[in-house]
Amino acid sequence: MRLSPSVLAADFTRLGDQLDIVAASGVDAIHYDVMDGDFVPALSFGDSILKNIKNRFGDTFFLDAHLMVTEPARFAETFRKAGADNITIHIEACKHIDRSIEAVKDTGAQVGIALNPGTPLDSISEIIHKVDMVLLMSVNPGFGGQKYIEYCTGKIARLNQWKKDLGLDFSIQVDGGISPSNVKMVLDAGIDNVVAGSAVFRNDIAENCKAFRNIMNF
Ligand code: DX5
Ligand code: ZN
Repeated sequence: MRLSPSVLAADFTRLGDQLDIVAASGVDAIHYDVMDGDFVPALSFGDSILKNIKNRFGDTFFLDAHLMVTEPARFAETFRKAGADNITIHIEACKHIDRSIEAVKDTGAQVGIALNPGTPLDSISEIIHKVDMVLLMSVNPGFGGQKYIEYCTGKIARLNQWKKDLGLDFSIQVDGGISPSNVKMVLDAGIDNVVAGSAVFRNDIAENCKAFRNIMNF
């Protein structure tokens, strides 16, 4: 079980110190949300903060870049160079998804495919064997602090069953509205990688990580 705190919810004036607390809490991954104001309504940041994190923390964290941008493969090399170990691209943002997946693989990074809540699982049936991770969005992407969309739980369970039927071993990540109060529900449905932004960085980071750790056993 992996917890991937989303730095979107961090205080950027104190980012390094906040990530020290995250690392000391036994967390081994960071989720990095890139938004372009086109694929999603908001803007976040480019690759420079990721580069800073890599420089300061080295291999402490598995760096997971979630590109909420139109035609994300354009930036695969940029984020790989900045230190991304995994690059996740949205099925809805790519005209030629196979080519985009190959472009990420060419950088040497692991590749994740993300689906918005309303995007059917069937849309990835032809390429599911090519990815290291499937990210099921449990909010509409673009903002932190939104409420978990309940119908996503059934979708997680169906993907998990499909994965078993196919005999594949990709990771299943959930992103949006996850807190210690609902994390067990998504784990039971088949999630092995949990993204959490506000539930990690709001108030006491060490206490928040501990609350997740007690349930997730990482
Ligand atoms: C939303 C982002 C999420 C976001 C999650 O578009 O992809 O990673 O940071 O934030 P919370 O956990 O607060 O819903
Ligand atoms: Zn994300």
